Amino acid sequence: MISPCKAAQFLFVLYTPMFSIQPPVSELPASLDFHGRTVLVTGANGGLGRTACLHYLQHNASTLIIAVRRLPEGEAVKSELLAHPYVKNKEDQPKILVYELDLSSHSSVTAFVSRLQAEIPRLHIALLNAGIYSLDWKVSPHTGKEMTF
Ligand SMILES: NC(=O)c1ccc[n+]([C@@H]2O[C@H](COP(=O)([O-])OP(=O)(O)OC[C@H]3O[C@@H](n4cnc5c(N)ncnc54)[C@H](OP(=O)(O)O)[C@@H]3O)[C@@H](O)[C@H]2O)c1
Repeated sequence: MISPCKAAQFLFVLYTPMFSIQPPVSELPASLDFHGRTVLVTGANGGLGRTACLHYLQHNASTLIIAVRRLPEGEAVKSELLAHPYVKNKEDQPKILVYELDLSSHSSVTAFVSRLQAEIPRLHIALLNAGIYSLDWKVSPHTGKEMTF
């Protein structure tokens, strides 16, 4: 006997590739210019967050803060972004900062915000991309609260 939650998960996994249609995604306008802007991307070590970082740099973001749970992963993304042909050939090199942030921990969030307030005079854009989607019941070991609402 499978639980209703597992049954829903199974149907979702089956349904999504069969019926979801990805609409065409157009190029970002060349006129989009983030020069002089400071941009924060959470969950920047992979997936959509990492791709978004590259787009911001392609469109001239001056300072990029990549917020990650594990600093070595953030440093690896930073190196990768700086080595990308779109970025390394720029005359005006962006400043990339790697900050530690685990959203499932209150102390990590408050330490992150304190660092941001101390080091960043003005934040123009915050792409709060970090997140999980899980049908399994998971509890944060830091707070004892549910991970997915
Ligand atoms: N891709 C889609 O089709 C889709 C559709 C709807 C919504 N979304 C949402 O869009 C966002 C990005 O999606 P994605 O496909 O790029 O997901 P992904 O590849 O799973 O990336 C999620 C990112 O969030 C970070 N993250 C997860 N929990 C965190 C926490 N407690 N503290 C800090 N960082 C945390 C992950 O870091 P770690 O590597 O440390 O886990 C990772 O960098 C997610 O919020 C997702 O739910 C995506």
